[in-house]
Amino acid sequence: MSAGPDAPREVRTRGDVTRGDGTPGDVRAEAARRRTFAVISHPDAGKSTITEALALHARAITQAGAVHGKGERRGVVSDWMALEQQRGISITSAALQFTYRDTVVNLLDTPGHADFSEDTYRVLTAVDCAVMLLDAAKGLEPQTLKLFEVCRHRRVPVITFINKWDRPGREPLELLDEIEQRIGLRPTPLTWPVGMAGQFHGVADRRTGAMVAFTRTPGGTTAVIEDQLTAEQAATRYGPDWTRAWEELELLAATGADHDQAGFASAASTPVLFGAAVTNAGVRQLLDVLVDNAPAPTARPDATGTPRALDTPFSGFVFKTQANMNPAHRDQVAFVRVCSGRFERGMVVTHAGTGRPFATKYAQQVFGRDRDTLDEAYPGDVVGLVNATALGIGDSLYATGPTVRFPPLPSFAPEHFVAIRSTDSSKFKRFRRGIEQLDGEGVVQVLRSDRRGEQSPVLAAVGPMQFEVATHRLATEFGVPTAVDHLPYGLARRTDPACVAALNAAPGVEVMTRVRDGALLALFPDKWRLSTVRSRDPDLVLEPLLAEAAG
Ligand code: G4P
Repeated sequence: MSAGPDAPREVRTRGDVTRGDGTPGDVRAEAARRRTFAVISHPDAGKSTITEALALHARAITQAGAVHGKGERRGVVSDWMALEQQRGISITSAALQFTYRDTVVNLLDTPGHADFSEDTYRVLTAVDCAVMLLDAAKGLEPQTLKLFEVCRHRRVPVITFINKWDRPGREPLELLDEIEQRIGLRPTPLTWPVGMAGQFHGVADRRTGAMVAFTRTPGGTTAVIEDQLTAEQAATRYGPDWTRAWEELELLAATGADHDQAGFASAASTPVLFGAAVTNAGVRQLLDVLVDNAPAPTARPDATGTPRALDTPFSGFVFKTQANMNPAHRDQVAFVRVCSGRFERGMVVTHAGTGRPFATKYAQQVFGRDRDTLDEAYPGDVVGLVNATALGIGDSLYATGPTVRFPPLPSFAPEHFVAIRSTDSSKFKRFRRGIEQLDGEGVVQVLRSDRRGEQSPVLAAVGPMQFEVATHRLATEFGVPTAVDHLPYGLARRTDPACVAALNAAPGVEVMTRVRDGALLALFPDKWRLSTVRSRDPDLVLEPLLAEAAG
């Protein structure tokens, strides 16, 4: 059977999704056919390429290369922010939705650069599954490890895709060993590569024992052509490469590395697939695993820990806000993950934080520059609410009934700190408004220090490029020129009011209040200073923040 470019039978575009009636049964059925995931990877492992390949399978774009701005492709879509172009990075993130085998797949995009990993962490709060993308030549890289820790912390099931198999890389068994040894996740391959680099012929399907042979299409601009071969046919056609794959498969069978659905769902094991995103090889198999094995949305616990049933009226939370996506309109979009019920454009929802109503006349599906009006959404879907200046990161929304509040989104351990001030004193009000806006969007964390006063708040970030974004936006959106002074801190610990005086008296230590949640953070130059302070007074409360706690 061939599933090449002429085989669109299993793919339907969004327009084909029929409108539901919002009854509990309808909501449950729609939720059951949703899969919501994000790709986690180290920069350059091929995240943009695999996103394009998935979109290509879904016919969401006509030609691979139209999803992300990168290299020559830059500017195709995500060029609304000049800084992204200058630095060749993608800061903004949204969701790509398509239908595959009657399943609605939501792929939540994440920024590629490590400095924006806090955004990625937040996206991971909105998914039900993650695809860990590894470069076949590099295996687990630092950024992958960090993001994987977040998945582990949140118990997000992980599918592993080993990419770039069309290039010389490491031995497949060695890569599996690395996954098991370094992150303690038991790898259970579903496919196995036959050949490698220029001789990458296809993959053996471990469940059927048959082989899927890949034939490249020019430039990878259409889905790879697949041929199903029996083991005998594969042996005749690919000789030693097939024999070797077969021997490795026997070895795997002997070690019991078989897919285990319960282990996958509880984030103890990870199904592994091999492929080459650049030629779309293995991408269909990835989609099949998402549909067949990845979890559908389930009842999300609210802030009290009570699961909110999928078929209760609409509720959701904001996991990302993005201002100025379209400079001509100066708008702000809040991205909401639907947790329960049916969202209908135009419905009036309540903002749990303020109790105020919020009209959803402008609801969109946003991916890159593409924006489509979105009329309805179900659990697992992402709704982009336009003109949502009142909505901040972590805010909950609900349709009717008693207040629904989802747990606050985690803030991650900042490692870079600057004091910022406006260099034009006549613009202080605007400066303050801009800082509030950036804090609400989660672009940076804003801290207040008694030592510094209101004129000079402190910005804290996971990566220093976040400061560039903040000052750039203050200048362009708020017209406020600013100057920043780097502060000599590199480590934050959460403390409590009883410890503030003692910590502030310690040399090189300063306690600040995080504006967003009122948390008291003690800042240290490095871990040596922290251990000195701790050894002098072991009773001080100094708790690691989330990224470190998870690491
Ligand atoms: P990222 O978003 O994770 O940062 O990675 P991206 O997709 O931009 O891919 C990084 C580089 O790796 C790109 O090459 C891309 O073409 C290449 N790549 C991705 N998947 C594969 C694959 O399966 N096989 C091979 N051989 N290469 C792959 P580049 O030269 O940096 O950019 P470009 O000019 O090719 O776009």
